[in-house]
Amino acid sequence: TSILILNGPNLNLLGTRQPEVYGHTTLDDIKALCTQAAKDLGCRIVFEQSNSEGALIDMIHAARGTHDGIILNAGAYTHTSIALMDALASVELPAIELHLSNIHAREDFRHTSYISKVALGVICGFGAQGYPLAIRALHDHLV
Ligand code: DQA
Repeated sequence: TSILILNGPNLNLLGTRQPEVYGHTTLDDIKALCTQAAKDLGCRIVFEQSNSEGALIDMIHAARGTHDGIILNAGAYTHTSIALMDALASVELPAIELHLSNIHAREDFRHTSYISKVALGVICGFGAQGYPLAIRALHDHLV
């Protein structure tokens, strides 16, 4: 199986960005966790980040025929982007919505997610460990 792991806006700043909320783990550290989890399971991953909504949509479109499923941490676009929701619905690939923080324990505007409406499931609140959890969950769903 092949899984696309997509990271949205501001996640490139992990490590220094609000460490009290997101921890000290960098996106490169998270990529290493994902690579190890994928190796253990014998699946392939591609790990991407973009701050641009359009670029994320393009990568979701390109996943069709290339990957078997998507793990998406859409950052703040989670709460705003009908376009990302539509892109996921269009490609008909199973997708897991992922967040480092527990969005339900935070500000009201983070309680709404467009991504949840088209996601197979949601993992949030487990910090960087959520990534390997999501890989395992999606891999189990696919095999
Ligand atoms: C986030 C949660 C979002 O509300 C926020 O805008 C982010 C990160 C998380 O991983 O906890 O950028 O997706």
